[in-house]
Amino acid sequence: MASIKDPVAAHNLRMWERLARVGMMYTRPRGRPPRTRAGMRRFMDPRGRLKGVRLDGARVLGLAAGGGWDPVIFAKLGAATTVFDISPTQLKTVRDLARRERVTLRTVRGNMKDLSVFADGSFDVVWHCHSLVFVDDAPRVLHEAARVLAPGGTYLMSTMHPTTLRLYNTFTGTGWSPKLPYFSDQPMPYVNEWDATWTYGRLEVVAPTLEWGHRFETIVNSLAEARVVVDGLWEFSPGRPDPRPEPGSEAHLDTLFPAFIEVRGRKLPLP
Ligand SMILES: C[S@@+](CC[C@H](N)C(=O)[O-])C[C@H]1O[C@@H](n2cnc3c(N)ncnc32)[C@H](O)[C@@H]1O
Repeated sequence: MASIKDPVAAHNLRMWERLARVGMMYTRPRGRPPRTRAGMRRFMDPRGRLKGVRLDGARVLGLAAGGGWDPVIFAKLGAATTVFDISPTQLKTVRDLARRERVTLRTVRGNMKDLSVFADGSFDVVWHCHSLVFVDDAPRVLHEAARVLAPGGTYLMSTMHPTTLRLYNTFTGTGWSPKLPYFSDQPMPYVNEWDATWTYGRLEVVAPTLEWGHRFETIVNSLAEARVVVDGLWEFSPGRPDPRPEPGSEAHLDTLFPAFIEVRGRKLPLP
């Protein structure tokens, strides 16, 4: 598999297997979706980015979407669903959940930099949440995602905000000191072991994933080059802002800058 020869993908694969072993956030289905179609859509897409997009009968690709509910909900909503991920454990989690929920979907293992297993225009929706950060070559992934999208299809992605990602764990006591200039294309350096530690409730695991804060111009222009025009772009921190965050904490930073971005695009019809 191409990913084995890709040192970034190979490293992040090892890290995701480590995260999945302990059941870290993003590696197990959280909560329980409502039974109604509207409730399921809200559960999966709380900000309504796919409002008006038909899912019943649609061909949906959950790109790097292992470990959670999303692909299973697409299948419950009547979509012919494929989930693609590099981690065998993340894919197994989805397969086990699909079996329990009595839906069928297809799982494919691979590196999102190479979607050659899929023909051009083979999906109506590409759902790509919280994973572009784990690849060095964002244009290549975005060109691939656009290639497999059918004309008129919808691409929806979320990832870390490129400014905020450069600032986590860099509080000096009076302000933040970015790990990298905004214009740098390097992966985020880790400032200490805590910076490389993932936490979820009482769970803690050191997993220094390689992460990139891809800039807006990279994302928007890469999509445009591949005939996907952006029709929505959002910056947000999830949940309610902590009214008294510990100075310098992630919660504090997330009140000052958005944690995440979301970008939606539509593939233009053929010329
Ligand atoms: C934060 S999780 C996102 C999981 C899911 N999309 C969600 O929101 O619950 C990131 C996922 O990206 C996958 N991943 C990381 N690098 C990848 C790559 N190069 N190709 C495919 N999947 C990758 C990981 O295995 C992991 O399942």
